Amino acid sequence: MSYTVNTKIQEAFAKDVQEGLSAKFKHIPSKYFYDKTGDSLFQAIMKMPEYYPTRCEYEVFKIQKKRLTAAFQIQNNEIDLIELGAGDGYKTKVLLLHLIETGINVNYIPVDISANVLDILEEGLRKEIPGLKVNGINADYFDALSDLNMISEKQKVILFLGSNVGNLSNDSAIEFFSKIASLCKKGDMLLTGFDFKKDPRVIQLAYDDPTGITRNFNLNLLTRMNRELGANFIVDQFSHYPVYDPISGTAKSFLVSLKKQGVNFQALDKSFHFGKWELVHTEISQKYDLEIISNLAEKSGFNLINNYFDCRFFFVDSLWSSFE
Ligand code: AVI
Repeated sequence: MSYTVNTKIQEAFAKDVQEGLSAKFKHIPSKYFYDKTGDSLFQAIMKMPEYYPTRCEYEVFKIQKKRLTAAFQIQNNEIDLIELGAGDGYKTKVLLLHLIETGINVNYIPVDISANVLDILEEGLRKEIPGLKVNGINADYFDALSDLNMISEKQKVILFLGSNVGNLSNDSAIEFFSKIASLCKKGDMLLTGFDFKKDPRVIQLAYDDPTGITRNFNLNLLTRMNRELGANFIVDQFSHYPVYDPISGTAKSFLVSLKKQGVNFQALDKSFHFGKWELVHTEISQKYDLEIISNLAEKSGFNLINNYFDCRFFFVDSLWSSFE
């Protein structure tokens, strides 16, 4: 059964939109992409030939599940697996199934901001992996972190997969990882997926697919604000603009206002003005190299145990522990 904090998410949405659209350079956090339509558009993105990270991580788990789960050093044959930003669990299922098949007692705790995606995940898992205990939590994963000790007393492995970390700024990533480190006991571990810097054209295309699925994903934020905050955006007066800077390794997505226009928000009792070509920054998808990854581990108080790569070195799952 999911534990629901939807009202909290709704209130935070109104507050973040109000703040973000009042700023000199407008911005809206990417976590609000994930309503029902956003969830299914992200599912479609993960299946696109241009969007490689999901398939890379699936390959890592499929081929290296034995080595990877052996490195967890599971004590007493039982483990709590907490996944922050679980989504549809497509890749995680490979690990879950392997652990159950090897006789480990797994309690799986997926945390996700989307109640819709959690319900689908939990229902699917009950059918596909009957021996698995599943207890989903519907929350922003930053909020759920403070309850981590309550969630789990057993040895825990925290999963932060699929390049979710790339949606955080470097400072937020360090803050986030440090918080996790402070909540870890001896034997607990963190497994994070990182997308590597690579041919800039490959990355650019992953966020600018010719079929327009990523475009619709970005523009859906406007539809969500219309529905949930009583806004009156005319969606086709904005366009999707993704850019990748290979020097910083940062992919950014923007919505661009195609004309001078005003938008009213009933829920905020406020209107916002958009100039012609004005940008609204909606997402950052950071790309990494091994040096940045080991720096992140060190600055957050973790020891890097091992890295698990796909065959093209496009992606890495990095396993960290907070104790020697
Ligand atoms: C969820 N997150 C890691 C994805 C990413 O690559 O930043 C979301 C996404 N945005 C556009 N395409 C995929």
